[in-house]
Amino acid sequence: MKCIKTLAESPDLKTIPSNYAYSVKPNETRASDPEDSVPIIDFSLLTNVSPEQRSKTIQDLGKACQEWGFFMVVNHGVPEALMKAMINASDEFFNLTEEEKQEFAGKHVLDPIRCGTSFNTSKEKVFFWRDFVKVIVHPEFHSPNKPIGFSKHLSEYCERTRKVARELLRGIWKSLGLEESYVDKALNMDSGFQSFTANLYPPCPQPELAMGLPPHSDHGLLTFLIQNGVGGLQVQHNGKWVNVNAIPNSYLVNTGDHLEIFSNGKYRSVIHRAVVNNRVTRISLPIAIGPSLETSVSPASTLVESENNPPRYVPMKYRQYLELQQGNLLDGKSCLDRVR
Ligand code: SIN
Ligand code: FE2
Repeated sequence: MKCIKTLAESPDLKTIPSNYAYSVKPNETRASDPEDSVPIIDFSLLTNVSPEQRSKTIQDLGKACQEWGFFMVVNHGVPEALMKAMINASDEFFNLTEEEKQEFAGKHVLDPIRCGTSFNTSKEKVFFWRDFVKVIVHPEFHSPNKPIGFSKHLSEYCERTRKVARELLRGIWKSLGLEESYVDKALNMDSGFQSFTANLYPPCPQPELAMGLPPHSDHGLLTFLIQNGVGGLQVQHNGKWVNVNAIPNSYLVNTGDHLEIFSNGKYRSVIHRAVVNNRVTRISLPIAIGPSLETSVSPASTLVESENNPPRYVPMKYRQYLELQQGNLLDGKSCLDRVR
């Protein structure tokens, strides 16, 4: 199947092929309320600050997880130049020829490097206006061997992001009243799964008919996304779609299904989607952070001790969960429903 990039670049493309068009778009409504401003977490107030400042930030973090499942992280210390380099390297990756990218056309959802279009073309009837490359970077690091410099930027960027993620998770566990050492053991975080995805959404002549990615929740604990200055991410909040206007250089972070499971439903995974535009190419780079693939995850034992808070999710190995979600249709919380 051809990349969406090739299709979008074909001369005189005025309308999209019918297998990219929704007659009724999932959860129609593009409205967003300007009053809805997404929470901002100042990462620098988590470390090297007074205990009072830290505990206030942890409280804000817990509130953001509970009320939004989404927040922007500023002052995280990851160099802007590294973020830009990763975005440029991803852009160059998509500029490789179809033949060059073909080498990475993966078959299985857990292939270390997998390049493709839409989400899962073997299952979908309507395709998405998106190309992607997905790479597993932890516990073992993988990388495409081209373009030049990609692998170096990827390893540095993923490592830096992982450190920010672990620190934020530390705060989140604290906000749930959980011991960090308990969680790290229960989820085997030192061998935790981490994937890097680069998404390319080329300009679309009929953006109102197409979808970049339909409404879904992510499988991991948290997802960290940066983009090339072009918006398109929308999160669902109080029944409305809210456009995320990213603060330059910030991480856009959302809660995933495994945070919902482990917190026994206290911090629910947020539904989000990517819409497309007819002017400029959008690149987004989400990094998923999860437990170890071989860990069977169930709600944290100390959160389900009382009788009025029984476990709401059945145990499942993260690997199995990921294969289930990624091997099917991307469809809201349909995967999470299977472990309820
Ligand atoms: C994603 O949900 O994986 C990506 C969303 C985006 O491109 O903003
Ligand atoms: Fe997502």
